[in-house]
Amino acid sequence: MFELRTSAAASKREQYEELAQQARGLMDGERDLIANAANFSALLFHSLADLNWAGFYLYDGTELVVGPFQGKPACIRIALGRGVCGTAAQSRQTQLVHDVHAFDGHIACDAASASEIVVPLVKADGSLLGVWDVDSPRVARFDEDDRAGMEMLCAVFMQAVAAA
Ligand code: SME
Repeated sequence: MFELRTSAAASKREQYEELAQQARGLMDGERDLIANAANFSALLFHSLADLNWAGFYLYDGTELVVGPFQGKPACIRIALGRGVCGTAAQSRQTQLVHDVHAFDGHIACDAASASEIVVPLVKADGSLLGVWDVDSPRVARFDEDDRAGMEMLCAVFMQAVAAA
């Protein structure tokens, strides 16, 4: 049992490493935020199992505004501190939510969403770019390996859009 869990965890980490390589390749030499965000969303949405939404909310200086994504149409504006996305943006901490119905203030854009992970995107100067949000129709779809993997992928994204 222990071996099985270990190898399952290792293969998940390997999958994230592979995705990071593909993301670097997709964004190589391209700094355009919207272009990279669109391709990054498409890559992850179509590579990871059991997702119903994957995309960006970008900070406009006042609130979060929906950016490039894959999935059904979503809420357009989210105030800082509201819902899972607004909480990640305000606290600048990744939010790993096993059951969205148990998260006080969760915003249900797609009724199919049961669990989600939201990573804050902070620029090198400390200012907020936005958040990366991934939803699943399966309760507890995301674990600590997904948190580490998503944070690593978001670091690859931030590096690409900041690179000179
Ligand atoms: N559930 C999110 C809203 C965004 S959608 O899931 C795309 C939240 O509570 O912030």
